[in-house]
Amino acid sequence: MRAVVTGGAGFIGSTIVDALVDHGAQVLVVDNLSRGTRGHLSEAQARGAQLLELDVRDGAALQQAFRHFRPELVFHLAAQIDVQVSMEQPARDAAVNVLGSVNVFAAAHVVGVRRVVNISTGGAIYGATPVVPTSEDVPADPVSAYGLSKLTAERYACWFRQMRGLNVVTLRYSNVYGPRQDPRGDAGVIAIFCERVLTGRRPIIYGDGRQTRDFVFVNDIAAATLAAATAGELPHGEYNVGTGTEVSVLQLAQAVAAAAGTDPAAFEPEFAPARPGELLRSCLDVTRAQRELGLPPPTRLPEGLAHTLKALRLR
Ligand SMILES: NC(=O)c1ccc[n+]([C@@H]2O[C@H](COP(=O)([O-])OP(=O)(O)OC[C@H]3O[C@@H](n4cnc5c(N)ncnc54)[C@H](O)[C@@H]3O)[C@@H](O)[C@H]2O)c1
Repeated sequence: MRAVVTGGAGFIGSTIVDALVDHGAQVLVVDNLSRGTRGHLSEAQARGAQLLELDVRDGAALQQAFRHFRPELVFHLAAQIDVQVSMEQPARDAAVNVLGSVNVFAAAHVVGVRRVVNISTGGAIYGATPVVPTSEDVPADPVSAYGLSKLTAERYACWFRQMRGLNVVTLRYSNVYGPRQDPRGDAGVIAIFCERVLTGRRPIIYGDGRQTRDFVFVNDIAAATLAAATAGELPHGEYNVGTGTEVSVLQLAQAVAAAAGTDPAAFEPEFAPARPGELLRSCLDVTRAQRELGLPPPTRLPEGLAHTLKALRLR
């Protein structure tokens, strides 16, 4: 199996690359290394994976790379993922997340790939819906420019499916955590809390901490993504991938302290003003993916946190 992974030097992409290499795939990573690192790929590269430093906004170079490598599968993860950046610089966000995605779908179509797995976000796409857990049938209504650009990329995926016959399926991940997540930026509260607990600092919670999220372990995400790539004909174009379990940020802080073996009193949160635009509740209904992709029950939070802390300690 020959697979291209865009954004494959990043947190989730590199975990998918490792899983693909484990399955004997030949992998080409396309990444401009704006956030990802070569270090994430060192083991995969030692086992034959290749890295091409390329920006997905460069459609001509992308097509040339695809023509040369001839992938059967494409996993599209390259993205501008920072919500705050999207709010301040929507054009920059759209250039990567919309134009970049159109370029990837076009290149995949030109070389006739078997399937594209397009990665989107369940955390940012549904907006402030009262329907929680949220199924794919709830209309998308994103609040952030990031959610809007990811939704637009999904719509282009549909357009390529209908107008060009491209076999493309979209996965809407919930809040992903695990080894290699960058604790900088606003994308990874678990990475931030884990780093703080290991350095003897207390967590900072924005708002009252009762906001909820659906935290899914990155290895489950990699397994679900491979399942979506190799499944037979899929009846739907979009699938939520998460745990279906709501966890508040306060509960998360307690779980991190417990997993690290830290006295909860030493990890009492400090509170800061709520951040504008932050959703109060976010949790995905994952029934469709569990049924149609045959996914096993997700990794439980304490187990996933233990893996994450172990990786941070080894760093
Ligand atoms: N982390 C989460 O909780 C989460 C949740 C839902 C969806 N997602 C989606 O999963 C995907 C991967 O996210 P991640 O958390 O691993 O982020 P990440 O920043 O670690 O990975 C993104 C990768 O894309 C690369 N990239 C960025 N712009 C590029 C460009 N113009 N050309 C080529 N490469 C470029 C970066 O260098 C990086 O390696 C993204 O599509 C993101 O929207 C992530």
